[in-house]
Amino acid sequence: MLTINRTQKIEGRISVPGDKSISHRAVMLLAISEGKGTVHGFLPGADCLSTIACLRQLGVDIEMHQSTLVVQGKGLFGLEKPSSTLDCGNSGTTMRLLSGILAGQEFETTLTGDTSIQKRPMDRIAIPLRNMGAKVEGRDASDRAPLRIQGGHLQGIDYTLPVASAQVKSAILLAGLYAQGQTSVQEILPARDHTEIMLGYLGAQIEREDNQIRIAQSGLQARDIRVPGDLSSAAFFIAAAAALPGSHLVVENVGLNPTRTGFLDVLREMGAQIEVEHLARENRELAGDLIIRGCELKGTTITAECIPSLIDEIPILAVVASLAHGVTTITGAAELRVKESNRLNALVTELGKLGVSIQELPDGLIVEGKGEFLGGDVTSYGDHRIAMALAIAGLFARDTVRIRDTACIDVSFPGFQRILKEVVL
Ligand code: S3P
Repeated sequence: MLTINRTQKIEGRISVPGDKSISHRAVMLLAISEGKGTVHGFLPGADCLSTIACLRQLGVDIEMHQSTLVVQGKGLFGLEKPSSTLDCGNSGTTMRLLSGILAGQEFETTLTGDTSIQKRPMDRIAIPLRNMGAKVEGRDASDRAPLRIQGGHLQGIDYTLPVASAQVKSAILLAGLYAQGQTSVQEILPARDHTEIMLGYLGAQIEREDNQIRIAQSGLQARDIRVPGDLSSAAFFIAAAAALPGSHLVVENVGLNPTRTGFLDVLREMGAQIEVEHLARENRELAGDLIIRGCELKGTTITAECIPSLIDEIPILAVVASLAHGVTTITGAAELRVKESNRLNALVTELGKLGVSIQELPDGLIVEGKGEFLGGDVTSYGDHRIAMALAIAGLFARDTVRIRDTACIDVSFPGFQRILKEVVL
């Protein structure tokens, strides 16, 4: 249970733990590289720890000292058959990206995870991986976990993604490392491109032309990787500071890859004052500092084209929309129904309990901003981003907000509550 009271303003200078997406990819790609690589700023959250545990079961030697990892690469074909089922915990990225790598292995593996992940569709990766020649069997028609994969002898495919998903794109590209001939993936809307960037950095033959990414069978060479702070974690504090007049917050060294910054664009459209400083590239990924000054915000319209660039920020955007003047409409976000929880339904139910006028659409939300929340008891549905969004709502509530089931925050943001205490006045 997390108890949150109203705050007067947000002030301070913070840095947030490493980017979750980049952390997963760093340890997975180094595991199948030649040589030894160090990851600095790795996110020690539950999801990324699940990835480490799975890779260790596949025979990879990984040393971890706080947020520094040393990974001894096994090369593309050095992974070993695990002696038991791989547990991906709550992590969709672990299950979907690892499946791409396992599709290239000659041995059979079974992947499973917690009750949330066992409800999430895996046919979106099973179908293309089968097309490439892997044997993939799920529990039901949507190929939900447990998922059994028998890989090897893959052929390249040309695949158009039916959903905008970086996890699906990445699974196919990783399998493409092992496939004969060229593999190409066509995106309808650009999803985060960390996999493509890191594959290029580690020496894969990969290229992008418009919306198409092409990869050829290629080995990887280990190199050190620095992970910037996770913008999706920083988003909770950015939102609080942006919507609270008088606030002043600096977020240091946060990832600013343009496929991830839709949230900042939308906040600016709503009137937020956000500046960027010290913009630089490290292992080909953009990062910088953000300076946020609080002011009154206005409602906006968010449509399908920008959803992939802010897919994980919709829970906190719904909180911001509840505070802004006027109506905010979000459409083209049906994917939110198959995240760690059904996020559209969770937001309507829980923000409704806090007095928000919020309507559920099949693919989005309509939120009427009222400037504050009522107090009360709410729940996270075991979903880390719902838990943190509700905590930020509590900072703007007339009475105390109590959030149940908040251990899940550790999935992506260990230290969230410590930073929250530091920045509230
Ligand atoms: C992720 C991709 C997104 C995102 C998730 C992380 C990734 O999922 O929601 O938190 O690291 O590739 P989808 O690919 O399902 O959109």
